[in-house]
Amino acid sequence: MRKSMLIFAFATAAMFACKEEGNQAEAPSKPTPPPPPPPPPTKTEPIIGEFTLMSFQGGPTIEALAKEGEKISNDLVNLGRMLYYDMRLSKAHDVSCNTCHDLASYGVDGKVLSTGHRGQLGKRNSPTVYNSSMQFVQFWDGRSKTVEEQALGPITDPAEMAMPADGKRVVATLESIPEYADAFKKLFPNSAKPVSMENVGKAIGAFERRLITPTRFHKLLAGDTKALTDEEQRGLEAFHQVGCTSCHTGAGVGGTQYQKLGAVKAWPNLHDKGVGELTKKAEDDYKFKVPTLLNVAKTAPYGHDGQMATMEETVKMMAEYQLGKSVTDAEVKSIVAFLSALTGEIPTDFIKQPTLPKSTAKTPKPDKKK
Ligand code: HEC
Ligand code: HEC
Repeated sequence: MRKSMLIFAFATAAMFACKEEGNQAEAPSKPTPPPPPPPPPTKTEPIIGEFTLMSFQGGPTIEALAKEGEKISNDLVNLGRMLYYDMRLSKAHDVSCNTCHDLASYGVDGKVLSTGHRGQLGKRNSPTVYNSSMQFVQFWDGRSKTVEEQALGPITDPAEMAMPADGKRVVATLESIPEYADAFKKLFPNSAKPVSMENVGKAIGAFERRLITPTRFHKLLAGDTKALTDEEQRGLEAFHQVGCTSCHTGAGVGGTQYQKLGAVKAWPNLHDKGVGELTKKAEDDYKFKVPTLLNVAKTAPYGHDGQMATMEETVKMMAEYQLGKSVTDAEVKSIVAFLSALTGEIPTDFIKQPTLPKSTAKTPKPDKKK
């Protein structure tokens, strides 16, 4: 009995084996079965998290800001550009805005600290003027609200362009040059005194409002998911995950708030009290404007005192002192790749130094004295 069952089992197994072989041989004559469905595409998780981009989308887009700039009268912008380059707005006729904010070099001088009148060293690093108008305030400590107001600071700063504080020499210089006097008269028909410091600021500010440089990152914000490479996207995601976006927010990736330098851990060798120096309030000590990071790859050295030489060093310092986190070398590398995707294009033709109108016999002479 047991034996016959075994034989039966063997025979059935052999039969099935035979059948399979037979099937294979017969296959061509049968209608080909439909091909198996392709395996579901291996789901590539998007690198950028669902909420990451929101940190940059609160305020106006850079495209909207650029459009605002385009609305400003070309004549006013052109006057502003001439003033921006004109060294006669400095005491010794040797310094212009462009000396410290070289427009061909992304709006900076590349120095730790800038040198102004008679080679004097300033106490802070010069930030870029590109996209500066996007920021909620101007200067590292925010002491000017707008670029129009800001522009008047350096002209009469004794360490920068060193013109007398009352502005009279600036006005006398511009009034002595007919092309300038006429341009101001035409552009400010309702001003009792068209050539005034206030209007100088308006003209320079108008020019600066055109210095907006959209980047590939802004294409991503506008919906182009291919605008950044994978490495740059990983950097953006790390920038967000590590917590950089708690301070560097908005279309300018900064320029929306003040923060204490050394928010989590005391910043080393900090001498400048920033906002606290202005307000004399202890709670403002060591607060600085969180700067825009647009074009940051081109604006080394970094920080208000220019003490950080490279982006890598800055990223590590920020993580450690502003967030209390340590970042891996791979994270630093991709964050730097992301920061490099924040470089826009310099509007080469627009920023060309214009021909400046000639001085006349009435134009005050350069004063080389301190
Ligand atoms: C001697 C160098 C020097 C000159 C000349 C100079 N600047 Fe600056 N500029 C600086 C420095 C340094 C700062 C930062 C100072 C601070 O924050 O306290 C600055 C800040 C600024 C800012 C603020 C940017 C920001 O991100 O907050 C703008 C805008 C600006 N300058 C425009 C101008 C204009 C316009 C002129 C000409 C009228 C000019 N600068 C002349 C060195 C200079
Ligand atoms: C708590 C707020 C805060 C956080 C978080 C923060 N930052 Fe900053 N960041 C600042 C402030 C304030 C400055 C200005 C530093 C100064 O005044 O010297 C700055 C400056 C910078 C600069 C230099 C820009 C320049 O033009 O000089 C870079 C680059 C930078 N941050 C990147 C980062 C990165 C990357 C992270 C995340 C790892 C980060 N930040 C996190 C507040 C912050």
